[in-house]
Amino acid sequence: MLSALMLAWYDENGRTLPFRGTKDPYRIWVSEIMLQQTRTETVGAYYERFLRRFPDVFALADAPEEDVLKCWEGLGYYSRARNLHKAAKKVVKQYGGRFPADVTALRALPGVGDYTAAAVASIAFDLPAPAMDGNLTRVLSRFHGVREDVGVPSVQRRLAALGQRDMPPVRCGDFNQALMDLGATVCVPGTPDCPRCPLRTLCDACRAGDAEDLPVKAAAKPPVNVSLAVHLITCHGRIWMTQRKEALLNHLWVYALSADEPDGDPEQPLKALGIQAERQADLGPARHVFTHRVWNMRLFHDRAGSAACRSGRFVTLSEMQALPMPTAMRAAREAAFRLLTPQVILSDDASLPLLAAAYADSWKDSHAGICAPAFLADHTAAHMEAVLRGQRDAGRDVYGLWIAGEAAGVLVIDRQENELVSLYVHPDCQGLGIGRAAVAYAVSVLDGRRDMRVTVLCGNERARALYQSSGFDSVAEIRVLDPQRSIREEVRIRPGRETDGLARAAQENADGG
Ligand code: ADE
Repeated sequence: MLSALMLAWYDENGRTLPFRGTKDPYRIWVSEIMLQQTRTETVGAYYERFLRRFPDVFALADAPEEDVLKCWEGLGYYSRARNLHKAAKKVVKQYGGRFPADVTALRALPGVGDYTAAAVASIAFDLPAPAMDGNLTRVLSRFHGVREDVGVPSVQRRLAALGQRDMPPVRCGDFNQALMDLGATVCVPGTPDCPRCPLRTLCDACRAGDAEDLPVKAAAKPPVNVSLAVHLITCHGRIWMTQRKEALLNHLWVYALSADEPDGDPEQPLKALGIQAERQADLGPARHVFTHRVWNMRLFHDRAGSAACRSGRFVTLSEMQALPMPTAMRAAREAAFRLLTPQVILSDDASLPLLAAAYADSWKDSHAGICAPAFLADHTAAHMEAVLRGQRDAGRDVYGLWIAGEAAGVLVIDRQENELVSLYVHPDCQGLGIGRAAVAYAVSVLDGRRDMRVTVLCGNERARALYQSSGFDSVAEIRVLDPQRSIREEVRIRPGRETDGLARAAQENADGG
């Protein structure tokens, strides 16, 4: 009776959900694992993406765990993803990639409990197993008038036995999903919509008028509050991260975490990691609520002088973005993103010495092997500071290139001459997109209407590739600096929108015309 009413109701009122309409046990299993702790509305997009990336159990079994975690990012409860991966390997190894049509065998897969085994068995294989999730527990406790604490195992077993008895001979998956949908849309917690319920005339709680009080649940324990300091430790445009070994968020990548002790020595937790760092800024609070735990976090920016560390590693922004990270780190990750995004800032007197030091190191690095050692040695930070001051006095714009508060290089632009005069990035900070950000900035300042010039040492492949891909694609002139050692430099042009004369000349020159 119950099943006939429910199946008729389901045919009319069942929800259209992205994971329905398939009998493929792999797809059903993936959706049910996702739905274990995540709302149906949230699961849709993740489900589609996951199946695009891992279309069958073989693709999932073959993938590195890191890729599975990355694809799971944002869904939380990451042990589900690790178990999914383990179970896929087991299905391939033990069953040749075919899911067993058997509740006990499904139940033996990692991450599959009574609920998931019953859901997959009934939806994929039409086996009569009640999928006792929160919805079925609520609907059946009201329908059968079970008025004891549903958290108690013996009460759970009784409800499951009632669900088993109610199963129809066919369409077992539809019956389970009908009860889930009724529980999600009509027989909802708190205030059920009994007048709209197909079961109202047979429902014990509806007759007794206490549906709102069911199911009976003992009061939940309050969550544990944890105070944590999250250290964003940067060094030369990289940030320190580690892969967690703790049960909570196991295998996921996080920043340095320590107990937040307001009066403690801020450097102490970092010393334990073998990192010497100095506090730069308090970046404010963040909070993440787990099921039984709340992390109350304070974010800090700490700067290390060297990337040496005993564990974990310093990663670039693009490496960080490829690592699987928990949602608990969302605010910290956004702060890290801001820190690791290169900045181009007009220099002032206070910043000039720091910029000059980065300039000197970078200049020496790019001219080593080209210039005589004594000449290289003359290019001290003090000398470079004088050079930069001279540039400013000559009316040029001197910018500092900064990353995570560290001086990483210099950019000099001559607006009159429409020229990118100098661009130097410290060797420790190369490969982080700082040069590219600086060129893009220069191009935006020199509005692109007239031809723009830059001079590059011939043979500096890195610089050539950067300018070439930024539109400086014609060579106007090659100058010989030192014929004996065949040191040459080339003037590259980025053609302007309103001037084609010089650009054409440059092209002809490059073509040997
Ligand atoms: N919650 C978990 N599994 C579900 C399903 N198959 N249909 C609707 N809600 C669900």
